[in-house]
This record gives sequence, C-alpha cells and structure tokens, in this order.
Amino acid sequence: MAETKNEGNGKPVIFSGIQPSGNLTIGNYIGALKNFDQFQNDYECYYCVVDLHSITVRQDAARLRKRTVELTALYMAVGLDPERSTLYVQSHVSAHAELAWILNCYSYMGEMSRMTQFKDKSRKNEENINVGLFTYPVLMAADILLYQTNLVPIGEDQRQHLEICRDIAIRFNNAYSPTFAVPEAYIPKVGARVMSLQEPTSKMSKSDENADNFVAILDPQDVVMRKFKRAVTDSETEVRYDVQAKPGITNLMSIYGAMTGKDMPAIEKEFAGRGYGDFKEAVGVSVAEGLRPVREKYAALVADAPAIEAMLGRCAGRAEQVARKTLTKVQRKVGFLPRPRSM
Ligand code: TRP
Repeated sequence: MAETKNEGNGKPVIFSGIQPSGNLTIGNYIGALKNFDQFQNDYECYYCVVDLHSITVRQDAARLRKRTVELTALYMAVGLDPERSTLYVQSHVSAHAELAWILNCYSYMGEMSRMTQFKDKSRKNEENINVGLFTYPVLMAADILLYQTNLVPIGEDQRQHLEICRDIAIRFNNAYSPTFAVPEAYIPKVGARVMSLQEPTSKMSKSDENADNFVAILDPQDVVMRKFKRAVTDSETEVRYDVQAKPGITNLMSIYGAMTGKDMPAIEKEFAGRGYGDFKEAVGVSVAEGLRPVREKYAALVADAPAIEAMLGRCAGRAEQVARKTLTKVQRKVGFLPRPRSM
C-alpha cells in the first residue's frame, strides 16, 4: 500500500471544505473551530474555501469574492495558522476540477440521483437545477481524495456525500491499484450539537431566516446579549440539565459549559436559586467576551485584503504540489499521456 501513504510528516491528514456563504455560528465555533490549535498539532490540515461548489447556486461575483476573503480572515481569526495548516481557495488549484472530471466518469447517475441534498436543493431551486448541482458530490470526492485524506470533519448533512467519496475511492483503487486513501468521517465529540435559541430541538443553523435562532461568531456584543436574553427556556425556574424536559436551558448550559470549561453540575450549582434572567445574562457574557479576541483579530485581518490574498497564494502553491502528485498518478492509470514538461 506504499502508494496510498500520506505525504509529508506522517501525521494523519484532515481535509475540510467550507462554503463561502452564510454566517458561521457559535455552533461552528464550539463544534470545530475552537479546537484548531490542538488539531494543527495532531494532524496535517487542509482547509479549502470551496468556491467551485458555491457556483452551483447563483452568486453575485463581487459578493462571492468578498465572502471568500472574509471567510479566510475568519478562519485565521479563530486560530487557523497558515504556517501550520494549508488554507486555500479551491479554484486556485486546478487539480480539483481536473480530478472531478475523471471521477465523473467513475460515478453513476443512479448513485448521484439518490443524494438527499441534491433532491432537497432541486426542490428548493426549481429554476436552476444545473448539472453542477447534480455532480457536486463528485467534486467533493475529488477535493478529499487529492490529498490522501484520512479524516473529514463533517456535519450529519454531509455523511451521504462522504459515503459516495469512499465508494468512488474504493472503486478506483479496485479497478487499477491503490491510488487513494479511503477517508473516514470525523464527527467532533464536544459541542457537535449546539441547538437553535428559539427552537432548541433543532440544530443551530447559519442559514436560518430568523436571525434570533443563531448567534454568529461575528455578532457584536449587544446583539449577542439580546439574542441570549430572548432565548426560549421553559416554564420552570431551575437551571437543570435535562435534554428531554428542558431543551432550551440544556442548550444554554452546553454553550456556557463550552465557553467557560465548567461542567454541568458546577453550572447547576452556580445558578441554584438565581432564576433564568441571571443565567441568560451570564451565558451571553461568556459568549460575547469569549469571542471578543476573535472579533478584534478578524477586524484587523479583513482590513488588509492584500495580505490575505498573498497568504492564499502561498498556501495554494503548497496544496498544488500535493494535489498534482495524486492527479498525475490518476492520469497515468487511466491512460493519459504525461503532461508535456514545458507546462
Ligand atoms: N459539501 C460541503 C458542505 O456543504 C463542503 C465541502 C466541499 C466539503 N468539499 C468538501 C466538506 C470536502 C468536506 C470535505 O458543507
């Protein structure tokens, strides 16, 4: 299996694709971003802003460019270090599109038609059911497989796409010889499920129409405080952990716990006999204050777009080298002539 071994320092490889759309929430922060520091020590990390995926729905060009820079700045503000991780833009590394084409020819109409996200998106977007939307999971597979990825951090909604990616990898490896590492899903243990503030039985979502349902990482302090003040609780008065009977309070406790490092019994004790008003205020402060350094760092970073673009250029160069190796192998196996040396 020498061929599927990861390049570089021998650490397992993590690949994550992030859409430059919507607002990242404290759910994203608690579930994943907060752990960047540890992540970057334990894994070889690739974070890819997937602008090719974005255009499967219509985008305003200037806005897409702006959001690509903003998302990059936000990832850096929460601790992603481009010296230790590769943070880059998908369209800068043409191997993604090239491998996607090849893998399209090793994927089947039947399996793509079964994707629930495709069915959902087509239903919601009847006037633009484009072919890119249909083949979206193949591009995602190409993203992952180019880097000999071992682990892919994803939410529940992307599980089916990762399964397809694994199927395609195994299919190709069997048809030729081991070419791709077969990746596993990585579901973060803590804070994987931060719930909506207004409907605490459904997940907090960055694309929710009602902005009171989520707290964005970049929400200013007063907005954070207001949203927690309005958060749905229950008719009791006791701060107690009980997912079934008290989903609202339980969600707020989890958020407070994640931001302060306190465990649930400690939180129950802290607020014994104090009522919900006090508690919500404390949760709001823990989030608003906890994210203050992120907001400040973000503001400084985003003010210097040329520096961000220069960084993206360096990282794209790094990604390109690794991706090109896998792509070259694939091209040889399927029977393409070697690329002319002059290119
Ligand atoms: N489809 C993913 C999403 O919407 C984004 C994505 C694209 C991705 N390529 C990826 C995620 C590769 C993980 C790995 O969230």
